[in-house]
Amino acid sequence: MRQKITVNLNNHSYDIHVGHDLLDHAGDIIAPHLKRPRTVIITDENVAQHQLPRLEKSFKKAAIDFDTIILPAGESTKSFAELEKLLEKLLRLRLERQDKIIAFGGGVIGDLVGFAASIYQRGIGFIQIPTTLLAQVDSSVGGKTGINSPQGKNLIGSFHQPHLVLTDVSTLDTLSKRHLLAGYAEVVKYGLIGDKAFFDWLEINGDKIIAGDHTTLIEAVLTCCRAKADVVSKDEKETGLRGLLNLGHTFGHALEAECGYSDSLLHGEAVAIGMVMAFDLSVKMGLCPKEDALKIKQHLDKMMLPTRISKINHPISKITMSVESLFNHTLHDKKISNGRVNFVIASAIGKAFLSKDINPDDVKEIFTQALA
Ligand code: GLY
Repeated sequence: MRQKITVNLNNHSYDIHVGHDLLDHAGDIIAPHLKRPRTVIITDENVAQHQLPRLEKSFKKAAIDFDTIILPAGESTKSFAELEKLLEKLLRLRLERQDKIIAFGGGVIGDLVGFAASIYQRGIGFIQIPTTLLAQVDSSVGGKTGINSPQGKNLIGSFHQPHLVLTDVSTLDTLSKRHLLAGYAEVVKYGLIGDKAFFDWLEINGDKIIAGDHTTLIEAVLTCCRAKADVVSKDEKETGLRGLLNLGHTFGHALEAECGYSDSLLHGEAVAIGMVMAFDLSVKMGLCPKEDALKIKQHLDKMMLPTRISKINHPISKITMSVESLFNHTLHDKKISNGRVNFVIASAIGKAFLSKDINPDDVKEIFTQALA
């Protein structure tokens, strides 16, 4: 089973291929997209251990000459230091401007490699082969690339669309349950933003996704990618609509910053807590029925995702996280304009919208609740 979705973007449209055997055919699919049969695969230690041999075999079969760069796994790889090392390696490998590089991994690899591609010799092409659920449903599509800095997550980066996305759900077979669940939070996000029927479907089928059922995974990935492709083609550079995809992210990024972007709080876990907070805020503002917020929390709890700060397995969550410091992180958000943060809130499940009209005291109150 293989399907294709197109992200329509004038002169840089591209396809997302979704299936469960794509890795074995990746060389044949990618070869026509290369100006010469030469590329560099950039991946991390975990993916290299579990999935790299399949990709390398398919490249050899398609007579593509390649080098492989293996980076440390984890969020701390999205740094200036790793970016610099990667760019220097690409220069030493004499990659040329018409070449394309391959981001083979999760969100960290996709963001870092995409950013490196956007600045290497003023920009070369890249292909995403996402290997985590989070990357497959969100970060590999849409061209957001970047690295973290002490001031905040993804504050340094660029919009640089991939040339092609190859999503093989069989790469999730070797993903840890924790990472699969973290990606599941982003899947739920699409239901909460604009597709109540999808949220209802997830309430029934969520367990099959976490059990790694390929058919259910493909259906979920396709639904998310269709939604994302639609939003990105209407608002590539996030002047409005695309901001909805940040549901739960302003709260979530504050938590990630407080945990020092360590692996004790994965991005998807932060988003799960953040989405609960966004709906709690919407209820507090009298915009959303309490039952909807409760339904979301119950579903995420059932799936074993964290829904409160106290459930984060990080010593800092219990000792030093304060409402003030969490709130201050929201002020460093990229979504700020004229000093006001653009929060994603909702009037119901599937009816999210953007609002700058948020009382800071309400936000602080939501942090206080989530810390309890
Ligand atoms: N992850 C949100 C976006 O791509 O816009």
